Amino acid sequence: MRRTICLLPLLCLSVRTPAAPLEETIKPAGPERLYQGDMHVKYSRNGLRDAKFHWPNATVYFKISTTFSEPQVNQINLAMQMIQNVSCVRFVPADEDVKGYVFVNDSDTGCWSQIGYYGQEQIVNLHTGCLSLGIIQHELLHTLGFLHQQNSADRDDYINIDWTNIKEKHKKNFIKANSSLVWNFGSKYDYNSIMHYSGTAFRINSSRPTIETLQNLNGRRIGQRERMSDTDISRLNNMYKCDLATSTENWESNENS
Ligand SMILES: *[C@@H]1O[C@H](CO)[C@@H](O)[C@H](O)[C@H]1NC(C)=O
Ligand SMILES: *[C@@H]1O[C@H](CO)[C@@H](O)[C@H](O)[C@H]1NC(C)=O
Ligand SMILES: *[C@@H]1O[C@H](CO)[C@@H](O)[C@H](O)[C@H]1NC(C)=O
Ligand SMILES: *[C@@H]1O[C@H](CO)[C@@H](O)[C@H](O)[C@H]1NC(C)=O
Ligand SMILES: *[C@@H]1O[C@H](CO)[C@@H](O)[C@H](O)[C@H]1NC(C)=O
Repeated sequence: MRRTICLLPLLCLSVRTPAAPLEETIKPAGPERLYQGDMHVKYSRNGLRDAKFHWPNATVYFKISTTFSEPQVNQINLAMQMIQNVSCVRFVPADEDVKGYVFVNDSDTGCWSQIGYYGQEQIVNLHTGCLSLGIIQHELLHTLGFLHQQNSADRDDYINIDWTNIKEKHKKNFIKANSSLVWNFGSKYDYNSIMHYSGTAFRINSSRPTIETLQNLNGRRIGQRERMSDTDISRLNNMYKCDLATSTENWESNENS
């Protein structure tokens, strides 16, 4: 299937080193114009805004590779339940007649996911080292339609990227998303997002970070792979219109403010 607006080449993310799960790469070198900065954006935006990339009826059909062991399958199911527990998103095993589903694979290409709904078979890959509940949820949030937090269009209000300290081939992972592609879905930039890189991702000089915060976090780190933050949960519920009455803010009104 071909996608318009050159989204496809940007849609693969991968973790190269399981030992450093906060480091991820956007895999293929896509047309980077989609990721050029937009100085007019006020709110953080890291969720694909076009509803055609959201799973219809908030239902993610899935198949799990038979190469996973039973405990691994249980772990994947548990991570899915954790997302279900905090949203209206449902993970449903795909029957033969379901066309659009995510195939959970374990090829040795690291932890990565295609982003958003494709309407055909798509992949989330969870190799050895990717099977913590936090990393699985992180990858499934990509599947559901989210980029990394530090790709959001307003990130320059919150972080400073030290380009001189990023390994050349990983620089593209730090590019800002265009607000025509992504939206904030009701929440401000979240240093604590499960979708945020750590401050040291892909650094050259280990004495210096690659991402510095503009606000003083009093020693709190940025990025984590333990659990969805309140913001992650709120954004997911907004994207999938789970319960607009109880979500903190309406993303459409943010858009105009
Ligand atoms: C964002 O994308 C739109 C549509 O493709 C384009 O017109 C605009 O110039 C882009 N903005 C930036 C800052 O790259
Ligand atoms: C939508 O999802 C719910 C829960 O997964 C399911 O019960 C219902 O049949 C679905 N509706 C459609 C139209 O697919
Ligand atoms: C889901 O929520 C229920 C009720 O709060 C809790 O008992 C259960 O442990 C949760 N399950 C997961 C997988 O988070
Ligand atoms: C899943 O991974 C295996 C390697 O372990 C590979 O041969 C297979 O093509 C992958 N499946 C899909 C659908 O990508
Ligand atoms: C790494 O950064 C530190 C702190 O800025 C600096 O003192 C040191 O010279 C740097 N090392 C290299 C090899 O550039």
